[in-house]
Amino acid sequence: MSGSARSTIWFRLAVIYFAVAVTLGVGMGASGDHHLMPVHAHLNLLGWVSMTLFGLITHRFPAVGEGKLALFHFWVYNLSVPVMMVALTLRMNGMVAIEPLLGLTSGITWLAVMAFVIQVLTKAKS
Ligand code: HEM
Ligand code: HEM
Repeated sequence: MSGSARSTIWFRLAVIYFAVAVTLGVGMGASGDHHLMPVHAHLNLLGWVSMTLFGLITHRFPAVGEGKLALFHFWVYNLSVPVMMVALTLRMNGMVAIEPLLGLTSGITWLAVMAFVIQVLTKAKS
C-alpha cells in the first residue's frame, strides 16, 4: 500500500475515534458522571489526535507509511488501542482483574508507537 493511501485510512480511523470520544464527552457533561474521563481523554488523544497526526505526517512523508515497520505500526496500534480502551472502560467500572490486560495492551501500544518513531526518524526526509 502507498503511503498516501495509508494516510487516508488514518484520517478515516481518526474521525471514528473523534465521533465516539466526543459523544462520550457530551454524555459525561450531560449526565454529570465523569468516571469514564480517562477513556474519553485517551479515545481523543490516542485516537483522534494521534491518528490525525499519523495521517498528516504520512501524507507529508509517504515513505513513513511504507514498508514492514509501517505495517507493524498500523496493525499493532489498531489492534491494541481499541482493546486497551475497552479494558480501561472495564477498569473504570471497577473490574480490577482486567489490569493485566490493560498493562499488556499499554506495552503493545508503546511498541507500535516506537515503530512509528523509528519510521519518522529514518524515513522523513525533506
Ligand atoms: C463536545 C466535545 C467535548 C465534550 C463535551 C467534552 C467533555 C469533557 C468532560 C465532561 C470532561 C471531564 C472533566 C472533568 O471531570 O474534570 C472532559 C475531560 C477531558 N477531555 Fe473532553 N470533551 C470534549 C472534547 C474533547 C476533545 C476534542 C479532546 C481532545 C482532543 C478532549 C480531551 C479531554 C481531556 C484530555 C480531558 C481530561 C482533562 C483532565 O485531565 O482534567 N475533550 N471532557
Ligand atoms: C500507551 C499509551 C498511553 C498510556 C498507557 C497512558 C497512560 C496514562 C495514565 C496511566 C494516565 C494517568 C491517569 C490517571 O491518573 O487517572 C494518563 C493520563 C493522561 N494521558 Fe495518557 N497514556 C497514553 C497515551 C497518551 C497520549 C498519546 C496522550 C496525548 C496525546 C496522553 C495524554 C494524557 C492526558 C492529557 C492525561 C491526563 C488526563 C487523564 O487522566 O485521563 N496519553 N495516561
